[in-house]
Amino acid sequence: MKNLKNLIDKLEKDNVLSKEEFVELIDLRNPEVNEYLFEKARNIRYKYYDHDIYIRGLIEFTNYCKNDCFYCGIRRSNKNAKRYRLSKSQILECCKTGYELGFRTYVLQGGDDPFYTDDKIIEIIKEIKQNFSDCAVTLSLGEKPYNSYKAYYEAGADRYLLRHETATEEHYNKLHPSELSLSNRKQCLWDLKEIGYDVGTGFMVGSPYQTTENLADDLLFIKELKPQMVGIGPFIPHHDTPFKEFEGDDGNLTLFMIGLLRLMLPSALLPSTTALGTIDPLGREKGIFSGANVVMPNLSPIEVRDKYLLYDNKICTGDEAAECRFCMENRMKKIGYNVVVSRGDFKPETIII
Ligand code: 5AD
Ligand code: FES
Repeated sequence: MKNLKNLIDKLEKDNVLSKEEFVELIDLRNPEVNEYLFEKARNIRYKYYDHDIYIRGLIEFTNYCKNDCFYCGIRRSNKNAKRYRLSKSQILECCKTGYELGFRTYVLQGGDDPFYTDDKIIEIIKEIKQNFSDCAVTLSLGEKPYNSYKAYYEAGADRYLLRHETATEEHYNKLHPSELSLSNRKQCLWDLKEIGYDVGTGFMVGSPYQTTENLADDLLFIKELKPQMVGIGPFIPHHDTPFKEFEGDDGNLTLFMIGLLRLMLPSALLPSTTALGTIDPLGREKGIFSGANVVMPNLSPIEVRDKYLLYDNKICTGDEAAECRFCMENRMKKIGYNVVVSRGDFKPETIII
């Protein structure tokens, strides 16, 4: 026990551990160690973000996808998925609703859908920025060529989310078909950084075949990449995928990983994800207690909500944007945190409040 607490102290001091130390800490963790970690994680986040919670309005604008990731409910082979696309004016309508609800960041997330050519994406970004100039635009559109990323950035996009999913090649190839590669995924992340985006990466916890060594490698890759955001959540099976029989994390390991991430990247933006809220009704609150500082309520139109199903039993599929927004504010208030109206930009570690 003492040894594990020492490891946590060391992580707090050095912001990194060796692979072996991460594995030991993750494998041998227990409720007392969890609490020790979470308290440190919270105190670190207070230094940069006080009790503020940043909100992002998530617009899931297409569930068409040309990829076939084995874990994902909107993979191209899922013939049962009811597909939809939002038009530019529908997307702008979501932004307007979001603006009135106090969102100052829009996250445009979709499957890898070739219908949205670079020109279309650029037009959407430009119009959002023209209409809502005090808002940040975050893209989450998957792997693209360098020049596409650059063109979106020049059109005004501020941030990009692309989870690496797992940093171990062998594991990556168990989760994805052969046309997808970890090396390309990582290259995309380096490209995004070089172009100047605030970058978010992340991974699923408890995904099929994942080992503790894989998780340690995820942390070390993230340390090397130094992203501004890291989104992690439990793997949850989807009934129409090859992984339907696998069990995911019950949330405990995800929370522990959030705590470790907070100590490793003290001022990072760490969302408490919808997947965490799906496997546990208080999952998002627990994510905040473990060191997370961001939530991403859904802004997608109610008609399409129940179609963007990456995994089973996703929450909030029947709720209007306003309901989620105020639900979230109340949930956060109840546990002593404040949802703020702000772009919620990343703060470098040098800026301590
Ligand atoms: N369970 C949990 N998370 C999932 N994602 C995709 N499918 C699942 C699933 N079955 C995550 C991936 C992806 C993000 C948008 O959602 O990590 O990057
Ligand atoms: Fe959607 Fe609570 S956040 S209903």
